[in-house]
Amino acid sequence: MLNIKIILGSTRQGRTSEKVLPWIQNVLADEEGMVFEALDLRDYPMPFYDEPVSPSQVADGKYPNDVVRTWAKKIDEADAFLIITPEYNHAPPAVLKNALDSVYAEWNNKAVGFVSYGSVGGARAVEQLRPVATELQMMPVRVALHIPAPWNLMDESGSFKTGALDPYASALKNLATQLRWWGNALKTAREK
Ligand SMILES: Cc1cc2nc3c(=O)[nH]c(=O)nc-3n(C[C@H](O)[C@H](O)[C@H](O)COP(=O)(O)O)c2cc1C
Repeated sequence: MLNIKIILGSTRQGRTSEKVLPWIQNVLADEEGMVFEALDLRDYPMPFYDEPVSPSQVADGKYPNDVVRTWAKKIDEADAFLIITPEYNHAPPAVLKNALDSVYAEWNNKAVGFVSYGSVGGARAVEQLRPVATELQMMPVRVALHIPAPWNLMDESGSFKTGALDPYASALKNLATQLRWWGNALKTAREK
């Protein structure tokens, strides 16, 4: 079984990420060989990175900050990641970049896929996250799911209208297929 962590990349009140999450969990519920756990950055209120030593120099998860250590343990459990990200000023949210920056070895040699949203589907945020992931020695899979103008898919209460995300289900399943392939390949390689 591949342990896939789904990371909610935004923490603001009324965030769209928490509305996309249940749809993702529903679409991927039957995926073979994968178990999913959602990681909410609200539950890991890490300080903005200010340590004297780079996370890449920290061994065995011995990060100075307690919350970062807890975060590192969760990231260490994973075989692959699915990151849900909005686009803030044509980039990923600072809270997500900080969560990526705060640990290092725990990301290494693992696959990552992206689900994004925004006026152009959050594509610019994802294109910035790909080199970040590469520098963390991760494998960003080719397929991403970009949801354009999610606000047009919501009702007056701010919920997604029934079935509004369904046209994106096949792209999400393609993403899961790539995550499974790379997740298994890298898990085998890590275990050697
Ligand atoms: C600080 C900020 C900057 C934003 N910049 C962009 C942007 O550059 N491109 C875009 O498509 N949407 C932008 N938006 C709109 C977001 O796509 C929209 O608010 C989305 O719901 C944010 O994700 P969240 O609800 O999960 O926080 C921005 C929103 C905020 C709060």
